[in-house]
Amino acid sequence: MKIGIFGSSTVAQTIGSKLVNLGHEVMISSRDLDKAKDDAPSPAEWATTNSAQAGSFAEAAAFGEILFNCTAGMHSVEAISTANLNDLDGKILVDVANPLDFSGGFPPSLSVCNTSSLGEQLQSAFPELKVVKTLNTVNANLMVDATRVSSPTTIFIAGNDAGAKSQVKDTFLTAFGWKDIIDLGDITNARATEMYLPLWVRLYGTLNTADFNISVAR
Ligand SMILES: NC(=O)c1ccc[n+]([C@@H]2O[C@H](COP(=O)([O-])OP(=O)(O)OC[C@H]3O[C@@H](n4cnc5c(N)ncnc54)[C@H](OP(=O)(O)O)[C@@H]3O)[C@@H](O)[C@H]2O)c1
Repeated sequence: MKIGIFGSSTVAQTIGSKLVNLGHEVMISSRDLDKAKDDAPSPAEWATTNSAQAGSFAEAAAFGEILFNCTAGMHSVEAISTANLNDLDGKILVDVANPLDFSGGFPPSLSVCNTSSLGEQLQSAFPELKVVKTLNTVNANLMVDATRVSSPTTIFIAGNDAGAKSQVKDTFLTAFGWKDIIDLGDITNARATEMYLPLWVRLYGTLNTADFNISVAR
């Protein structure tokens, strides 16, 4: 399957590499294909190394049969707005981003919360997309390999389209090793998983590792 990824940094490259390994064709995207990231190669270099492609946000939208949002949440609407709307029509957008606002330093605050969420902002800005919020509650390495932590843990999914959620579960979450998948309901439930981030960043600061996740015992 052809997967277009909005974004080019750690999350885009980690998900992109996993999807290539699973046999998908992948294009990551950026405003500058030759600029190296803080802790990752440039998009162009990553594409060469991973037998994948790199392009603009608009080119990734056109390329992908399914799309991933791996951009900084505060700028996701802006990034996806550069796509041709015809290239979004009817496609699933797997939204793994968080609306983290680092303008006040660490820990970050959320640029949207309580009465809305990034997932909802995206669904509202791009009604032609089927937005599925998932994987945003774990680190990039854990997103694509649920077995990195010792005991089975929980991942959440939310979105308005039942068929889209089912396809994301079957095509990606299961392939990434997730077994305990809790469907929270429609896209308004993205608020809940995004509002977990204030706890996530504090756990990260305390545990000194990003290899952790919660398990919902019941
Ligand atoms: N890091 C993790 O393990 C992790 C875990 C869970 C969720 N997330 C979420 O996943 C997303 C990606 O995280 P990340 O750590 O890979 O990278 P990031 O630094 O949060 O985001 C980098 C991406 O955002 C784009 N971007 C930034 N400012 C932009 C602007 N003004 N206009 C358009 N695009 C802009 C960048 O585009 P350019 O390439 O053009 O610079 C780049 O592709 C974030 O929303 C993050 O909260 C991250």
